[in-house]
Amino acid sequence: MRILVTGAAGMIGRKLVERLARLGSLRGQTIDAFDLHDIVPAEVPETEAAVDILASDLARAGVAEELVAAKPDVIFHLAGVVSGEAEANFELGYRVNLDGTRALFDAIRASGQGPRVVFTSSIAVFGAPFPDVIPDEFHPTPLSSYGTQKLIGEALLADYTRRGFFDGIGIRLPTICVRPGKPNKAASGFFSGIIREPLAGKEAVLPVPRSVLHTHASPRSAVNFLIHAAEIDGERVGPRRNLTMPGVSVTVGEQIEALGRIAGSKVTRLIREEPDETIWSIVKNWPTRFEARRARELGFEAEQSFDEIIQAHIEDERIELSN
Ligand SMILES: NC(=O)c1ccc[n+]([C@@H]2O[C@H](COP(=O)([O-])OP(=O)(O)OC[C@H]3O[C@@H](n4cnc5c(N)ncnc54)[C@H](O)[C@@H]3O)[C@@H](O)[C@H]2O)c1
Repeated sequence: MRILVTGAAGMIGRKLVERLARLGSLRGQTIDAFDLHDIVPAEVPETEAAVDILASDLARAGVAEELVAAKPDVIFHLAGVVSGEAEANFELGYRVNLDGTRALFDAIRASGQGPRVVFTSSIAVFGAPFPDVIPDEFHPTPLSSYGTQKLIGEALLADYTRRGFFDGIGIRLPTICVRPGKPNKAASGFFSGIIREPLAGKEAVLPVPRSVLHTHASPRSAVNFLIHAAEIDGERVGPRRNLTMPGVSVTVGEQIEALGRIAGSKVTRLIREEPDETIWSIVKNWPTRFEARRARELGFEAEQSFDEIIQAHIEDERIELSN
């Protein structure tokens, strides 16, 4: 089995590759080769399988064709420009998130191979006004360029699957929290920052009110979703190929309470409230809670509480608590 990962140097991509390398198999078959693509070189995982590191711009003419020429059996398409950046840089967002995705899907179609394609979409496909809990049937009307690009990707994925060009599953990820490493350009960055930075003994800024309600899943769950999406029987999913993933819905205040329970008040005191109108104006248009009934029925699972999400971060990033 040969696996292609686009966006393999990214936060989720790296964790996915690490897990797949550890598992050694997917869909009941041994993984013989990894093709790890990103615009920057991805890390080489510890594995017996062959590894090709490919660094180029997915949206550049000819790149997608080169990637699929190796005939991957499963393709994880994670390459993308995140929400804040896609809003700030209109052309870049459409180029990577839409043109790159279309180029990849078309190259797969032309190859005639019909692989399983797992595409990371986002809950940003939904736009306000929202009901209390967003059901699976809620109509997607994005209110950001990023959400629009992801929604077009979803529609392409469903159509290319219907036409038999590949066997696609789109997963709408909630906000992945706690994001390790440095802050990125996503407008949702503070949801992770208020946990990650204080745990590292650093101050974090909270730019929105504590009453903001949002849905999260850990990077560990994101990897679980991706692997489950690669293995699931397409027949069971049916023609609606884009699934809203489950997650933990909490207010920012509840996130901070969970941090206090786990790490103590010395740590939560490192959170400084500093309202930011720009971030608040973006965040208040975001969906809060999802039913995610279809995904749960199909066996996708996330954490049950925000405490579990913090614990997953502490374990996966090997963080030492001082108290
Ligand atoms: N992290 C989240 O909360 C979240 C939520 C919803 C959806 N997603 C989606 O999941 C995917 C992975 O997210 P992530 O958090 O790992 O993001 P990330 O920014 O860490 O990774 C994305 C990767 O794509 C690469 N990339 C950008 N432009 C490229 C190009 N032109 N060609 C090739 N590679 C390019 C980047 O270098 C980066 O390594 C993205 O598609 C993102 O939109 C993430």
